[in-house]
Amino acid sequence: MQTACFIDGSFVPARSGRTFAVTNPATDAVVAQVADGGVADARAAVDAAARAFPGWKSMAAIERAKPLRKLAELMHRDVERLADLCSQECGKPLAEARVEVAYAASFLEWYAEEGKRVYGETIPASDPAKRLLVLRQPCGVAAAITPWNFPVAMVTRKMGPALAAGCTQVVKPAEQTPLSALAIAELSVEAGFPAGVLNVVTGLDAPAITEAFFDNLTVRHVSFTGSTEVGRILLARSAANVVRVSLELGGHAPFIVFDDADLDKAVAGAMASKFRNAGQTCVCANRFLVQRRVHAEFVARFTAAVAALKVGDGRAAGTQIGPMIEDAGLHKAETHVADALAHGAHATTGGSRVKVPGCADRFMAPTVLDGVTPDMLCFREETFGPVAPVYTFDTEAEALAIANDTPYGLAAYLFTADGARIMRMAEALQYGIVGVNDALPATAQAPFGGVKHSGLGREGGHHGIEEYLDLRYVSWRVG
Ligand code: SIN
Repeated sequence: MQTACFIDGSFVPARSGRTFAVTNPATDAVVAQVADGGVADARAAVDAAARAFPGWKSMAAIERAKPLRKLAELMHRDVERLADLCSQECGKPLAEARVEVAYAASFLEWYAEEGKRVYGETIPASDPAKRLLVLRQPCGVAAAITPWNFPVAMVTRKMGPALAAGCTQVVKPAEQTPLSALAIAELSVEAGFPAGVLNVVTGLDAPAITEAFFDNLTVRHVSFTGSTEVGRILLARSAANVVRVSLELGGHAPFIVFDDADLDKAVAGAMASKFRNAGQTCVCANRFLVQRRVHAEFVARFTAAVAALKVGDGRAAGTQIGPMIEDAGLHKAETHVADALAHGAHATTGGSRVKVPGCADRFMAPTVLDGVTPDMLCFREETFGPVAPVYTFDTEAEALAIANDTPYGLAAYLFTADGARIMRMAEALQYGIVGVNDALPATAQAPFGGVKHSGLGREGGHHGIEEYLDLRYVSWRVG
């Protein structure tokens, strides 16, 4: 297991010599001591990426594709090891961690190909003696700040498009989950990336490390996935050197079930959307809006499915719900439940923390709250936990108004059989992603990202690589 920063092709200790403990949130067991890098380490990584940039940029896209594809192959080869590491550091069930590794590899596979399609343009000139060209060029060194909830996939979702575009990159993984990023860095050596193309700086002091991304003209793009609060700070910080930022921030996803929906599919979708990673994803359904005629039936079926979920250590056989990553996450989920119960909602299953023998006290029972109203905390804020509040609505207009009554706009879901309604809702929902009878819309070839307080820019698809490309207009007088 690699535990040092990865700079210029080598694993190196932090310049301070300090390390910090990465622990398994399920058990509090120390998984590893990891280099506690700071601003000097981050500057060294930025310098290494800057040195590697001219060579990497000038390689043919078809050549850059080779190590990207190879890295994806190596991740598939090592899926068990990577999934186990991922589960240890973020607590998610092994079965989910395996899916995450495959999802992560898919960004490398897809962008290895997409990098070959970075086409320029020619524009008909008004002056016959001129030729007007538009070149699309890699913007320079890119920085990626990745979250703890997808320690593998959020690295490659940023790395795939950046490296395919011809940028070089410095990754700062979340302090809770640096080991997956270091494992990817280790595999990148075997995949054949030149030194300095990918760098990883681990450390506890995220503000110090990110300072090295904003206090110079070298880093031209910063991509961040995490909270809206931190996203705002980074956006403000980016102003000094006019650095482009992509921000994938918080969500507050409505999951709307109309009375003509296939309830089997709606319940299966609700389970997949709400309980992945114990509800700790930005696109998790956070508010269930169910039309009155099917409300009782939906809640009964949903409750039965939720009550059957197995809570435990992510590495234990059969676990479906792992721990919350931190105590603060558990407290937030508990606070949302307590507020709802105090204001008249009731729990049809769950409603409190659960003790898992031999584990830390950090597990929240998967919970369904019925009788929720839009003024309750769980309907106003992102819970980021395994809590499913259900509200009953009467009309499409009411569901739409409630769904849009939030500053967030990442993902929304609707389940219905009515084609015209699907189109009306898809156009009217103020969200970057709309899942129609589909609870898992994210995929490498489609744009992922939000509007309003949920962020700026897109990851995935051809839109994702645009973030790393500068347009250069060339006006060429030929006569
Ligand atoms: C996220 O929640 O940040 C990512 C979820 C996904 O890619 O499906």
